[in-house]
Amino acid sequence: MPASNDIQAAALALREGKLVAFPTETVYGLGADATNDKAVALVYAAKGRPAFNPLITHVPHAEAAFALGEFSEDARKLALAFWPGPLSLVVPRKADCPISLLASAGLSSIAIRVPSHPVALEFLKAAERPVVAPSANPSGKISPTTADHVRKHLKDKVAAILDGGRCKVGVESTVVGFLDGSPTLLRHGGIPRAELERVIGHPLAVESHSARPHAPGQLLSHYAPHAELRLHAEAPRDGEAYLGFGKFHAHGPYTLSPSGDLVEAAASLFRLLHEIDATGVQRIAVAPIPHQGLGEAINDRLMRAAAPRDSS
Ligand code: TXA
Ligand code: MG
Repeated sequence: MPASNDIQAAALALREGKLVAFPTETVYGLGADATNDKAVALVYAAKGRPAFNPLITHVPHAEAAFALGEFSEDARKLALAFWPGPLSLVVPRKADCPISLLASAGLSSIAIRVPSHPVALEFLKAAERPVVAPSANPSGKISPTTADHVRKHLKDKVAAILDGGRCKVGVESTVVGFLDGSPTLLRHGGIPRAELERVIGHPLAVESHSARPHAPGQLLSHYAPHAELRLHAEAPRDGEAYLGFGKFHAHGPYTLSPSGDLVEAAASLFRLLHEIDATGVQRIAVAPIPHQGLGEAINDRLMRAAAPRDSS
């Protein structure tokens, strides 16, 4: 087990915006300050994910979770029954929720859990802020259940790897969504469905995207700005707001990154789309984004946001 000093040092690095790998009872997590857009963007860059999947926010106790999201009665029941433990709850974000919109991948919901590994809990308390953590493996590789697995692929991308031994559960947390009234099982995981149903006293709907591992971004099609998007635009046309990038940025106040930095662009993408949308403009023209590194995920997201709307 890591010494208390090492945990404190790792927490400090996290507060400075760096990435820290830490053990949980399910798998090792690749942690970042959940309130720091740039740090969250680094997580996607380190994982090499071609799309922005929403991330799970980790907190040291249920009260901290209740401060971030709107918990229905059933959601509270599950939280109180299974936390700390391998259960993540997806709930609407509170209006003043400080979690990065990038961590929510632009959705108005947030996934939260309280892990039970003692090192995770000590690290989260020391961090003094919520921590996003996907499994600490590069995209397409299997989830890490020892510190060695993490070292093998992500050593150069993290400020610290806290070694807490082998993960006891070994599969990711069960994910349950509470968005349109009835609780829905979104991912099978460490807590079996029957145990959840016993606590809430009725069956869970099941909408497993683990059945479609190649389309994990599918659920993101729920989010799109009101305005229509025009992509690969080198300049705005009449009536359009312009979202610039790199050398295409001299057309107004909104720029993903004036220097053409893709990590900075990812960090501000959802915030700027929301900001522009809030002005009520009907069309947003978006500068060309290079299709490399995080640019792939940014373009994936922009293409979904620009896709023809389902009017139903
Ligand atoms: O056990 C775990 O949950 C591990 C450890 C490190 O805590 N973390 C983990 O994170 O598995 P990740 O990023 O590999 O998986 C997050 C899952 C994805 O299936 C994602 O779609 C879902 O949580 N998720 C996160 N936020 C969501 C949201 N707002 N709505 C729907 N699903 C969400
Ligand atoms: Mg994963």
